[in-house]
This record gives sequence, structure tokens and C-alpha cells, in this order.
Amino acid sequence: MSNKQIDWSNLGFGYIQTDKRYVSNYKDGAWDEGGLTEDANIVLNECAGVLQYAQTIFEGLKAYRTEDGHIVTFRPDLNAQRMVDSAKRLQMPPFPVERFVEAVEQVVAANADFVPPYGSGATMYLRPYMFGSNPVIGVKPASEYQFRIFATPVGPYFKGGAKPITIRVCDYDRAAPHGTGHIKAGLNYAMSLYAIVDAHEQGYDENMYLDSATRTKVEETGGANFIFITKDGKLVTPKSDTILPSITRRSLCHVAKEYLGMEVEEREVYLSELGDFAECGLCGTAAVISPVGKVVDHGKEICFPSGMDEMGPITKKLYDTLTGIQMGRIEAPEGWIHVIK
Ligand code: PLP
Ligand code: COI
Repeated sequence: MSNKQIDWSNLGFGYIQTDKRYVSNYKDGAWDEGGLTEDANIVLNECAGVLQYAQTIFEGLKAYRTEDGHIVTFRPDLNAQRMVDSAKRLQMPPFPVERFVEAVEQVVAANADFVPPYGSGATMYLRPYMFGSNPVIGVKPASEYQFRIFATPVGPYFKGGAKPITIRVCDYDRAAPHGTGHIKAGLNYAMSLYAIVDAHEQGYDENMYLDSATRTKVEETGGANFIFITKDGKLVTPKSDTILPSITRRSLCHVAKEYLGMEVEEREVYLSELGDFAECGLCGTAAVISPVGKVVDHGKEICFPSGMDEMGPITKKLYDTLTGIQMGRIEAPEGWIHVIK
């Protein structure tokens, strides 16, 4: 597809094939030098580790066109480090942090025509991933791997964009204590598919997962962390060993403290206290900050005072500051913005 055919302002969150992607292969204990390819397809042996035992991990980050015409990415080193952590947990060879960042630079530069225009509301989503590629039949790690990054222009993750969504408390669990909830393993997402289809069928936009040990504490959704705003303007975000350490959430905590002078609390958040909060949002690379207007807990509605029409005022300030930093309108903390061209 040519970029000329893309209606940037009406893009959803979907896959559009772009020109080039990065590939590196791991064999005999080492990563090869890697490089760009035009081939978007992968041919694998029928017994490849990823196909049998789901040995696959991924990342998600974005490239932005800034107000002054540059193309940048946001904290790619943190995605690289998180992918190292994910790899170690699934017995995969980590892809070096510096090489990850260089591969991101190559993919973005090679697909620069697909980075949406400044102000269009769209961005370029980058999907790094890695999988076991050689045949594995006994349950054990593969010995060969492929690391890839592709790029696709995207619009908002939730259809309404900044319109508040309704989520339900989910009866299925996402992660177990001492499991893999804190890494970005494909298996965490596979096991959420039944629950998300069911949520959509019941008229909800997303699932709120609880801690599986006690089912009393708020964890996260299938693809984003939670932030809550108290009635006196404090940011509260769940602390848990079984949620993904969101880079957006970590960045928002800094923005809240250092840019907006807010108090920030990372602590256990109980389902029973949700009614005390003034605002709620989902945060992540894809979600940015998506406001939540209502949580439904088995028929009981918890409606946030910010309502169902628009983002709450403090969530909006956080959103404007974060996206302002990402798009170059607001000065970024040292090292957050990685200029590509
Ligand atoms: N939680 C889950 C389960 C996710 O898949 C994501 C997306 O990456 C996030 C949270 C948000 O993380 P980040 O802000 O690093 O994109
Ligand atoms: C992201 O925000 O990058 C994610 O990976 C979330 C979802 C699209 C899986």
C-alpha cells in the first residue's frame, strides 16, 4: 500500500503493511548482524518452538512526527530493556539493548513516509518481537530464534478516541503469582482472548483483571495499566508483581510529580475503593491514556464523577502533557526523546 492511500485522521488500530522490516537470526549461540527486508512473510518449520510451546515475546512503541518536523521515538531504551527481561523469563537469548535501539532507528527511517503527519491524531506503531524458530518437540527452549521489528501506522486503540469507555470486572485471570504477568509474553495475550471476546459480546470495551490470589485487588487490563485520580487530585496506580511495568505509566508518574506538582502513590488498589476515585484511565503505548467512565462489577455500576462524555480534567492535563512531550510541544526530561531524523 502507498502512504498516499491512507486517510490518517480516520485510522483505527490495525495492521497496514509498510515497506521494510528488520530481521536478525540467532543460531549457534550468537545473533547475526541483521538488516532490513521487504519480505513481510515468515516461513517456519512445522515444529518451530513458537508454534508448539508459544515461545514468543514482543514489545510496542511508537514513532511520532513532531511539531517542528522531526521523527522521534519515545524511550526506546526502556522497551529494549523490558524485552531483555521478557527474554530471560522465557529462556530466550536477549537481543542487546543498543542493537534494539539501532533496529528501531532503521525501521523508522526506512518507513518514514508512513509516519503520520503531525496533528493527524495518528502515529506509527512499532512492534518488536522474537520467537523460537527451530523444531522443538520435547518441552524445552528452542536453540534458534528470530528477532523482528515491523512498523504500522495506527489511530486510537479504542474507537471513540478520547471518549470514556466502560469496562467490566473480569472473572477470568490474566496472571498468576510468580507467573509471567510482568513480562510481555505472547501467552499472556492468548489467554486473554476468550475474556475480551466475551466482554465485547456483553457490551464492554475491556476487562479489569483482579489479582488471582485474592481477587480483591485491581491489576490491569489486557493491554494497559490503570491510573486513578483521587478527589483531592492525587495520582494512584496499582502496585503489583504480576502486572506489566508500563513505560507510559512510569512516565506519567514522573510527569504528574515533576510537571504538574501532583502527589503520586504506587500502592495496592482494592476493588472495594474504586467508588472513592474521581477519575480513572488506562495507560499504555497503544492506549495512550484512555479514560474510563464506568466499571461494572457483576451488575454493580461504579461510575466515576468525570462521567461518560469526556476525559476527567486531571486525566486531560496528564494526557496533554505526555503527548506534548512526545510531539515536541513541551520540553522532555533528559533522554526521553530519541530523534531519528
Ligand atoms: N499492560 C499490558 C498488559 C500491556 O500489554 C501494555 C502494553 O504494552 C501495557 C500495560 C502498557 O505498557 P507500555 O506503557 O509500556 O506500552
Ligand atoms: C502496547 O500498548 O504496545 C501493547 O502492546 C498493547 C496491546 C496492543 C497489546
